[in-house]
Amino acid sequence: MKVWIIGKWGKLSQAMQRKCKENGIDFVASTRQEVDLENEEAVRAQFETLTFTHVINCSGYTAVDQAEEEKEKAHALNAEAVALLAKLSKEKGNKLIHFSTDYVFDGEKEAYGEEDERAPLSEYGRSKEAGERFLMEHYPEALLIRTSWLFGKEGNDFVKTMIKLMDEKESLDVVSDQRGRPTYADDLAEAALSILDESGTYHYANEGETTWHSFAEMIQKKLEEKKQVRCKKIEPISSEDFGAKAKRPASSVLLTEKFSPPHWEVGLEEVLAHALESK
Ligand SMILES: NC(=O)c1ccc[n+]([C@@H]2O[C@H](COP(=O)([O-])OP(=O)(O)OC[C@H]3O[C@@H](n4cnc5c(N)ncnc54)[C@H](OP(=O)(O)O)[C@@H]3O)[C@@H](O)[C@H]2O)c1
Repeated sequence: MKVWIIGKWGKLSQAMQRKCKENGIDFVASTRQEVDLENEEAVRAQFETLTFTHVINCSGYTAVDQAEEEKEKAHALNAEAVALLAKLSKEKGNKLIHFSTDYVFDGEKEAYGEEDERAPLSEYGRSKEAGERFLMEHYPEALLIRTSWLFGKEGNDFVKTMIKLMDEKESLDVVSDQRGRPTYADDLAEAALSILDESGTYHYANEGETTWHSFAEMIQKKLEEKKQVRCKKIEPISSEDFGAKAKRPASSVLLTEKFSPPHWEVGLEEVLAHALESK
């Protein structure tokens, strides 16, 4: 078995590389400079020149608000590139593993199973939904894993933003009317590697529903146990008052019946310890 991990410096791609090493899985990871997924020739050349059995697509256009202005860019990477990967993987007989998001749902339900109807509210969500459709149209044997509220040791995410802001400000306003399940990238990578040869759609998110506001309160509490933090107050704010460009689902809790994931607080402890060590 040899795995091509698309993406080298992303949150999930770095966790995936760590987990491949830990599990003794042979892999190569490519940067966007090495293989630009928007360059069809470069992608075809990779399939021609390298031998691998599995393609794990950890790339993505993930700037949710920016996607409102850069619809074409989001679509090119999250949808058209996925169609190309699906066609080439099928042709070559490689297994293809791709990741999608809770933002393909509209948040009208309390929780979502794998087969629930998709109705994205944002351009990012629409681009990911199109990617899911193209994937299954061109390669129904592919593996699609939806996840939510990803945080990890590397890259930018909500946890890193909170650590920084909690050092700078005495109080913070954090959105309290969106519910979801935070997911630690290392847990997601481990879960994906455990089902590499499966097909169809799987949901993976850590145990425990929360809001961004309660998530922030937990980050603040855990940080205070480890060091001084300037921020003492986390005020709840509505999505409307926060005024992000892209609309997010009010509840995008993923049901994960095919797994028994650990609670997100366990991953959060690891990430906070890592962030404080590397300061
Ligand atoms: N972040 C979340 O909260 C979240 C939630 C649900 C689902 N997801 C999904 O999970 C997956 C991974 O997300 P992430 O947060 O780990 O992403 P990320 O940290 O934003 O990383 C994006 C990755 O995409 C690669 N990339 C960007 N443009 C590329 C191009 N044109 N060609 C090749 N590679 C390109 C980057 O390459 P380099 O390594 O060269 O920089 C990087 O590795 C995505 O499918 C995302 O939609 C994320």
